[in-house]
Amino acid sequence: MPSKKFIIFGASGDLARKRLYPALFDLFLKNIKFDEYIGYGRTKFTQEEFKDFAKKALAQKEQAGQKDFLACLKYVSGSYDANGLKNLRTAIAPQDKTIFYLSIPTSYELVSDILVGLDENELIDKETQMALEKPFGSDYASADKLNKLLLEHFDEKQIYRIDHYLAKDLVRDLLTLRFTNSIFEPLWNNKYIESIIIQIKEEAGIADRGEFYDQTGAIRDVIQNHALQLLALTTMEQPDEFLPASIHQKKQEIFKKLRLYGGKGIENIEIGQNKAYRQREHIKQSSLTETFASLKAEVNSPRWRGVPITLLTGKKMDEQSTDIIVRFKISKNHLWQSEKNCRENNELHFNIQPKNHIELKLNFGFDSQENCALPIKLKFGFQDNHFIFKDAYENALHDLQKKDQGIFLSSKEILLSWKFIDQVLIIADKNRSKILKYY
Ligand code: BG6
Repeated sequence: MPSKKFIIFGASGDLARKRLYPALFDLFLKNIKFDEYIGYGRTKFTQEEFKDFAKKALAQKEQAGQKDFLACLKYVSGSYDANGLKNLRTAIAPQDKTIFYLSIPTSYELVSDILVGLDENELIDKETQMALEKPFGSDYASADKLNKLLLEHFDEKQIYRIDHYLAKDLVRDLLTLRFTNSIFEPLWNNKYIESIIIQIKEEAGIADRGEFYDQTGAIRDVIQNHALQLLALTTMEQPDEFLPASIHQKKQEIFKKLRLYGGKGIENIEIGQNKAYRQREHIKQSSLTETFASLKAEVNSPRWRGVPITLLTGKKMDEQSTDIIVRFKISKNHLWQSEKNCRENNELHFNIQPKNHIELKLNFGFDSQENCALPIKLKFGFQDNHFIFKDAYENALHDLQKKDQGIFLSSKEILLSWKFIDQVLIIADKNRSKILKYY
């Protein structure tokens, strides 16, 4: 009988601890299981030490089932190359069904060593699945190179490029909401929509990721992937079918038409650096890396031309919130022409986190003294519904296990999104010392 094995590279890392073990455990409890979870890494853990490490990662989870889950864990230590990966050969039989999960920085050299090592040790076959974390490259050229490398070892259908934002509940549901409710489509264009804001604000700082972050910055870390993916899902045309290839295709069309607002440059880019940033470990005193970024973009298509789409992200912000805010125009109406007869813009507000809810701002009651309509908010929430509200990694790993590529990224959309970001970075880098604001 072939066994199902989930192999985690970077098994002692932060991402594995914070996100993967808890999500794998939640799935395990729902009977979505692997026969073995193999942690691989350079850290020299004994089997007990590894299980203890994973157990600590489950501290917030219920006790029931933990013993059974931990019993399926195994650790193999070695270097990330052919020589080290030999050690996996005793843990994986040729007929086993395997998912390799790279929970490590996906630098070309590292990924190359691992893929060559897996191939040389005959650990890859036509069924093998390979999952990779973002960031996928640091610009168009490096993403292209990384992609070609992957395709030397795998078919596209075996590769799962993860952007965990696509696995968040409300994000997954965006397309269903947009395309199953006929009230949205007629209004979803530049005739009725005034602007769109996509913001990913974080209260936390860079934690202990100084080395990575200082070479990356907010534009590469969050705008290129999470924010652009939210933009694509908000603005894309209806896919021909509810299938990964059709969804990827429609997102690619958006990225092809994406430009800075009005085709202009620097006036649409703001960058900032938190005042405490340079005091963090591994950060150069002269660092001009942005911890905040805001871009005004536009999809240059008949449907969207003229609608500013703000993409904003930052560390150490005043709140922790991820939102898509669609602001509608105030329509002409003879009853409400004068400035006194005031009313507000309608807004459709998706709070992806922390609230996981949708709000629709409407004008409703009438204040006759002020001659104003009173705004109200219709709210639709999911937070208390545990059947609906799941962790993003749980969703992503479930889809990975089902071989459903819908929420994973195609190589083309990644390359196209880098094309846009490369242009932004060229402009930002030229003006960096002048425009960087400290907050
Ligand atoms: C990661 C970024 O991709 O997303 C981090 O590298 C960021 O810098 C994180 O903090 C945000 O994810 P979430 O799910 O906590 O909003």
